[in-house]
Amino acid sequence: MTLLDGKSLSAVLERDLTEQIAALVSQGVTPGLAVILVGNNPASCAYVQMKAKACKRVGIYSVTHEMPSKITQDELLSVIEILNNDPNIDGILVQLPLPAHIQTSKVLEAINPKKDVDGFHPFNIGRLSVNVDTFVPATPLGVMNLLQSYDIDVSGKDVVIVGMSNIVGKPLASLMLNAGASVSCCHILTRDVKQYTKNADIVCVAVGKVGLLSADMIKEGAVVIDIGINRLESGVLVGDVDFESVAPKSSFITPVPGGVGPMTIVTLLQNTYKAAMYRLEQRMQV
Ligand code: GUN
Repeated sequence: MTLLDGKSLSAVLERDLTEQIAALVSQGVTPGLAVILVGNNPASCAYVQMKAKACKRVGIYSVTHEMPSKITQDELLSVIEILNNDPNIDGILVQLPLPAHIQTSKVLEAINPKKDVDGFHPFNIGRLSVNVDTFVPATPLGVMNLLQSYDIDVSGKDVVIVGMSNIVGKPLASLMLNAGASVSCCHILTRDVKQYTKNADIVCVAVGKVGLLSADMIKEGAVVIDIGINRLESGVLVGDVDFESVAPKSSFITPVPGGVGPMTIVTLLQNTYKAAMYRLEQRMQV
């Protein structure tokens, strides 16, 4: 069994990116990321803080807009409009989930698709589904890059994804399809998840339920990608996979923490760099 070490890979990618960003800055473009945080959900606050720190490490200018949970949808939309028109901001990220009185789809669709570093705008989701260059959501793209760095070819493989969120499961299914995998999508209404997972070459789990994947649910030598993040009452962070029993049966497996999580952060940084490159290209055209 080999650990898929996202922590080490992300550190290497961050170093490369830092150099690329320095080169961009020397051409007069400092990548800028605006993060919008509504309310004070502790997990969201922690993620936003991690993203801001990561930006600082690689030389991305980042600004966090903290909004009260009572903010109206129209107020939020007007903040996005200002950021859409801010020439120093290349990427806009609205941390999810949003409070229930706000229509998430309205907010995501208000972001200029060229600044949509999360890849959640339907324009970018559509482009992903037809396999043309676009912003791709950070967590699933991070998974693909982690697999690739270990020379794990998904082409022709049987891949099962458990959990069909718009943020992770659905875009991961598109990426896997684009890469030539045969993809099965399991979700809350799937009657027998094990029937799918036990035959799969690669099992990806993104549900948010401790112990969801146990050793009896995979075949010998499967690749296991754990995208869940759960905090136990003890404060310990675990994924969705029963790591102790599943790891010895797998060929490759991601740890939690230190697997997919760090890949998500570095991929967001790469997406922000990509957005800043658009700014440079546009400047060259003038
Ligand atoms: N909430 C959980 N994951 C994400 C993410 O990748 N992006 C945003 N914006 N919100 C999230």
